[in-house]
Amino acid sequence: MRIGVLTGGGDCPGLNAVIRAVVRKAMMKYGWEVMGIKNGWSGYLHMDVEPLDLGRVSGILPKGGTILGTSRTNPFKTEGAQEKILENAKTLGIDATVAIGGEDTMGVAYGLYKMGLPMVGCPKTIDNDLGGTDYTFGFDTAVNIATEAIDRLHTTAESHHRVMVVEVMGRHTGWIAVYAGIAGGADVILIPERPFEIEEVCDLIRKRHARGKSFSIIVVAEGAEFKSTGDESSIVVQDAALDEFGHVRLGGVGGVIGREIEKRTGYETRVSVLGYVQRGGTPTAFDRVLATRFGARAVDLVKEGEFGKMVALVGNKIVAVSMEEALKMKKVDDDIYELAGLFFG
Ligand code: F6P
Repeated sequence: MRIGVLTGGGDCPGLNAVIRAVVRKAMMKYGWEVMGIKNGWSGYLHMDVEPLDLGRVSGILPKGGTILGTSRTNPFKTEGAQEKILENAKTLGIDATVAIGGEDTMGVAYGLYKMGLPMVGCPKTIDNDLGGTDYTFGFDTAVNIATEAIDRLHTTAESHHRVMVVEVMGRHTGWIAVYAGIAGGADVILIPERPFEIEEVCDLIRKRHARGKSFSIIVVAEGAEFKSTGDESSIVVQDAALDEFGHVRLGGVGGVIGREIEKRTGYETRVSVLGYVQRGGTPTAFDRVLATRFGARAVDLVKEGEFGKMVALVGNKIVAVSMEEALKMKKVDDDIYELAGLFFG
């Protein structure tokens, strides 16, 4: 038996921990061979692969990024690419594939599974927005990085009596913003799930200042939207060009909010965009453990012939859910946002 493993979409802390667990479990428990597919679906299309063994995955547990490389290649965008992947999998002698990725990678994996390719998914994204699982690996690391950044920005905000706007990642959902915002003591948190009115944000800050506070911290997810006033998009983009999965490049909402706050309230305001720092570097212990559990269980699913499924964390158990379930986006719970709101203003 030979299995393939690939990492798709944006890089994320914990990818190497999954790869290591997949190789270890497949080789040591089942005596299988493992083939690493390079750069996401691109490696399958171009037969760019490398055999993985215990030596190759030794020492990678704490490393960020992915030893396999990654890309946002979408085989459903190019005529004939899916068939090519099925053919190449056969040529490479790969009996089943573990696809580690977020919504885009899982969508492709599910599509290829329906065409007959045995697939098992593993949920990755710092955004934590995949359905079917309580958490994706990478999220905890991103939250810790963002929280530390908020703590550090607090000192400048407080010393200079400024409003500090911190823009974090989160394309469709505000999980990082809400968790890091609660952990870092944010005074306002803006997320894609709750379009906002800028004047309401200003009022919250004015209220805070009226009770003697001379600084404020606002955490905003990159996908947060202004309440729409017409047909125009209320999302701020850095680049409107679409990638192969139809996504624009987000970023810049923090700057727009910062300028508006300063103009409307007169409070000196600064903006920090955390960007890719949130995805880089070593995973937290929580993410290392979760990624290891996911990787090992994914190999069991292959053994059990549970294809078209994704490993998931539910409660404290690793379970299998259908990939279709995973594709239903997980929005920020109302309860947790209400809790965050207790500290606004
Ligand atoms: O999916 C994770 C994520 O970090 C999003 O929050 C962000 O919009 C996106 O990836 C950007 O990734 P890239 O610029 O690598 O396409």
